[in-house]
Amino acid sequence: MSDRHPMTGNEMSGASEGGMERHEYDVVVVGAGGAGLRAAIAAHEAGARTAVVCKSLLGKAHTVMAEGGIAAAMGNRWPEDNWEVHFRDTMRGGKMLNNWRMAQLHAQEAPERVQELEDWGALFDRTDDGLISQRDFGGHKYARLAHVGDRTGLEMIRTLQQRTVQLGIDVFMECTITELLKDADRVSGAFGYWRETGRFVAFEAPTVILATGGIGKSFKVTSNSWEYTGDGHALALRAGAALINMEFVQFHPTGMVWPPSVKGLLVTESVRGDGGILRNSEGKRFMFDYIPEFFKAETADTEEEADRWYEDKKNNRRPPELLPRDEVARAINSEIKAGRGSPHGGVFLDIASRRSPEFIRKRLPSMYHQFKELADVDITQEAMEIGPTCHYVMGGVEVDADTQESAVTGLYAVGECSGGMHGSNRLGGNSLGDLLVFGKRAGEHAASSAAGLSARPAVREDDVKAAKTSALAPFEVSAGSGGGGENPYTIQQDLQQSMNDLVGIIRTAAELEKSLREIELFKERAKAMVVEGHRQYNPGWHLSIDLRNMLLVSEAVAKAALAREESRGGHTRDDFPLTDNEVWGTKNLVVSLDADGTGVDLSEKPLPVMPGELEKYFD
Ligand code: FUM
Repeated sequence: MSDRHPMTGNEMSGASEGGMERHEYDVVVVGAGGAGLRAAIAAHEAGARTAVVCKSLLGKAHTVMAEGGIAAAMGNRWPEDNWEVHFRDTMRGGKMLNNWRMAQLHAQEAPERVQELEDWGALFDRTDDGLISQRDFGGHKYARLAHVGDRTGLEMIRTLQQRTVQLGIDVFMECTITELLKDADRVSGAFGYWRETGRFVAFEAPTVILATGGIGKSFKVTSNSWEYTGDGHALALRAGAALINMEFVQFHPTGMVWPPSVKGLLVTESVRGDGGILRNSEGKRFMFDYIPEFFKAETADTEEEADRWYEDKKNNRRPPELLPRDEVARAINSEIKAGRGSPHGGVFLDIASRRSPEFIRKRLPSMYHQFKELADVDITQEAMEIGPTCHYVMGGVEVDADTQESAVTGLYAVGECSGGMHGSNRLGGNSLGDLLVFGKRAGEHAASSAAGLSARPAVREDDVKAAKTSALAPFEVSAGSGGGGENPYTIQQDLQQSMNDLVGIIRTAAELEKSLREIELFKERAKAMVVEGHRQYNPGWHLSIDLRNMLLVSEAVAKAALAREESRGGHTRDDFPLTDNEVWGTKNLVVSLDADGTGVDLSEKPLPVMPGELEKYFD
């Protein structure tokens, strides 16, 4: 194991003691997607000694799957856009379960964060007047997604990554954090291992920012890649923090359905934002049949009006394809179930008949190449086959809106692994704004919290020892089971299938109860799984550690989904199809670790009360 810094190649500051490497920082950020990098930059600029630790490679993050743009009321296309309209759209998209303060801060600060990204070198598409171009997306009244073709997340990551390296922030890649360390009620560091060598490493720090992204790998069909196993959610739970809104999982309406090897891969909402429409196998533009009462007033009910909207938002209502994602995903699901699906089990997304090939190639270059190369489909000539894919979890660590600090002092969460901002359903484009706005806030607050301490919290050797034992447990179990146990991959596959079938877009009590019984069985099977070989690059061992987190977050989702007896946003109950504002419109479900530390408990908490000056937007 070299003691060279993985990014800079310089000698690392950490001391090696008893075979274990140790490092000291003021702020340790876990995760190197947009949220983690923005937080690290802010902490570093505030004077904190800062490190980023990520289990994958720097820049390989789900952020790049937010392809269509960053939602920010800059008013470049529609001068009448402003933070109040964005705030209102966000709250309505989340069916009013959002933490109002987070939605407010987000809407107010997103434009400045986009501008700053441009100052740091991001190359946005332009309007004819030379301003940052903004495109339409579902649930947003005005075209407000600042974009770079359909590769916005990628450009954001490129920019943040470049700045991180320029500033000389230490980055530890391919290093998985398995436990948070605490001194009484305060976080004191993080413990993990190098994926390549299996050697352990401890980061001593009075503040830790979790920015680990989502939980998509608990589901079979997902736009998430292998990293998204709910690590931050589970680390926070085990450290004593709470999760909120875990029942709300976003199924993006448009993922690829064919070929099977890429099932779930994202097809950006920009296709619909730029004029694409949805049709069933009978050729019908079916979304007109699925306009919910809640959005009737602002949704076009004729094709003519829908088409006029792109030119004139003031006098026309938005096309039904641009309803919030939960509505569109449910509608597609219903069409497929009713037997009106496409040959490979999706529906048709057609932009070819609506826009010129030049326009499509210019605005949607990645989609053009994605379909050409992976499915041999030319989207300038024919329709795409698409279907819903698990994309994002609205639930996450419960944090203070202004600082992003959790209930555990010194522990922060930001981006997808935090909860509250998006309520029951996130509007497309709001994740990139979220991670910039709250990444900056978390980094600054963590840095100032660390600077304000008279003494650093202690790392207890007993805790480090326990963390080592826990990380090595899968090897011990294998030895004890005489090699007769299961491979972690089999358990993961069964969990993903079970979550897809029983905790998917449409849920019932019977199915959720069954899923909870199955999760208990998966936990039992996980106790006896076989991890063979040694600690040097051992993907089976890595997965066995990730699986612990996946099982915990899956239980959190299923338990909260069973408790919430209504339908709202990303949570649809076939047995409770209505939104019940009286009972469920004023509270969050809160998830905490249970007494024996292997499962979760649920409780309820009232929503923060919105002040009158904001309430007026929701007559
Ligand atoms: O469809 C998309 O481009 C995804 C955007 C998002 O999730 O915000």
